[in-house]
Amino acid sequence: MINDLWYKNSVVYCLSIETFMDANGDGVGDLHGLARRLDYLAGLGITAIWLMPFQTSPGRDDGYDVSDYYNVDPRYGTLGDFVEFTHGAKQRGIRVLIDLVVNHTSDQHPWFQEARRDEGSRFRDWYVWSKQKPANANEGMVFPGVQTSTWTYDKEAKAYYFHRFYDFQPDLDTANPHVQAEILKIMGFWIQLGVSGFRMDAVPFVIAEKGADVKKPRERFEMLRSFREFLQWRKGDSIILAEANVLPETDMDYFGEDDDRMQMMFNFQVNQTLFYALASANCRPLEKALEATRTRPETAQWGLFLRNHDELDLGRLSEGQRSAVFAAFGPDKDMQLYDRGIRRRLAPMLEGNGARIRMAYSLMFSLPGTPVLRYGDEIGMGDDLSLAERNCARTPMQWSTEPQAGFTKSATPILPVITGGAYGFEHINVADQRRNPDSMLNWMERLIRMRKEAPEIGWGDYSCVETGQQGVLAIRYDWRNNSILIVHNLMREPVEAEIDPGIGENGQLLIDIADGSNSKAGKDGKHCVFLEGFGYKWYRIGGLDYLLRRSDI
Ligand code: BGC
Repeated sequence: MINDLWYKNSVVYCLSIETFMDANGDGVGDLHGLARRLDYLAGLGITAIWLMPFQTSPGRDDGYDVSDYYNVDPRYGTLGDFVEFTHGAKQRGIRVLIDLVVNHTSDQHPWFQEARRDEGSRFRDWYVWSKQKPANANEGMVFPGVQTSTWTYDKEAKAYYFHRFYDFQPDLDTANPHVQAEILKIMGFWIQLGVSGFRMDAVPFVIAEKGADVKKPRERFEMLRSFREFLQWRKGDSIILAEANVLPETDMDYFGEDDDRMQMMFNFQVNQTLFYALASANCRPLEKALEATRTRPETAQWGLFLRNHDELDLGRLSEGQRSAVFAAFGPDKDMQLYDRGIRRRLAPMLEGNGARIRMAYSLMFSLPGTPVLRYGDEIGMGDDLSLAERNCARTPMQWSTEPQAGFTKSATPILPVITGGAYGFEHINVADQRRNPDSMLNWMERLIRMRKEAPEIGWGDYSCVETGQQGVLAIRYDWRNNSILIVHNLMREPVEAEIDPGIGENGQLLIDIADGSNSKAGKDGKHCVFLEGFGYKWYRIGGLDYLLRRSDI
């Protein structure tokens, strides 16, 4: 069971083939390039790759506008290359998750083309139409400021079609049993080609009722069970990681009270309060968010992240909290996006402060869930705010000081490589950091190793331990007679925190698993833990060698 539920203690690395490594020199990353970098990823210690959409697509939303679900976009390679890649990953013990974008298709998808052309087509009902302009056509846009409506008139169809996202992404009518069957078929196809599951895009919209007369869309949670059931029949250890930015009250609807829906969900609640904690050095709301998202079924797991390929959405914070995060990390208008978020990468948000950046990752890795890293984070890559919308944080991977950061031999990469300045490839690249034991890259490798050696985080019960300091978060995990205590100082200033791990005699000695500075309790059983500004400690509680007490090996 422990090893079977691999995603409980996985370290996921998310990347886009397009901007990772270009092997054929045409300026676009490809599967060959990625395959050549598998040993780099294996060396980093990650255990799963989440591939962003790579199926055939006009590429107007970075591949989230699919025009053929059963093919690799020719710019990235072929289906054969894909299977070589999943095989290569497997040989190195790395699993592959892929994006599953089935809320909508591209408007170039043959299904939509046929549906709009012919009212009698069998694909007409695969999409959501209205003869009249629906009253709520100007509501519910996901990209406010860029997208102006959710219903667009199509001359050829002589009707309006519904699109939750951009107008070139018509929504599929997911209530249609033929569409549902097709979604399963798509999953079955890629599972057969070696993937271990899916990051399912926009899940709340996939399961929502759609239609011109739907006022308050109800979610059809039963669909989630059918997805899971299908996958488990086809390949028992495959999973779905849901992108669902929802309120904690509905988490269990997604996981399933009977532990029968999504195995994983991204924890957006914790993500947003984590940024508030970083901005304000106040950990209390983060503790509350952890509490609010505590309940989950035994086989379920949270996906944790700092930044991803989208904007940092702050929509769930209070007005005051949101302003604090904007002020700290995205004060300029061009750093913000869609009236709700920040589009920068983490390193520039934290002003390139190495100690603070490391503390932020260490904190994320220490929270209950499975960490999900974004490519380039391991070397502290920056962003290019001159690029539109979310592209600023999607620039090519910086491998070396060679031209175009060693990403491509072409002079015209698909997106410009960050050049010059503090985050330019001349300063921030894998080759240089590989040689430097104190680099972010080598530090990240050690963090990943430490997280993998602490399965308590993925499996155990946790509790927040009083530190007497609003800016210090201490979290304890207990699992199978093992306990760990992880402490983070979110403040700039050094601090001495008084901590009682709360397990009597066993808590007398704290073994520092990060840098070896152990702590002995005072007479009152409390520990006086000194933390540098933005410092952190990972302690194993008790004096015995933990390996002797681990019962899973
Ligand atoms: C993805 C976005 C994408 C959108 C439409 C999202 O939730 O993360 O990158 O633009 O879905 O598919």
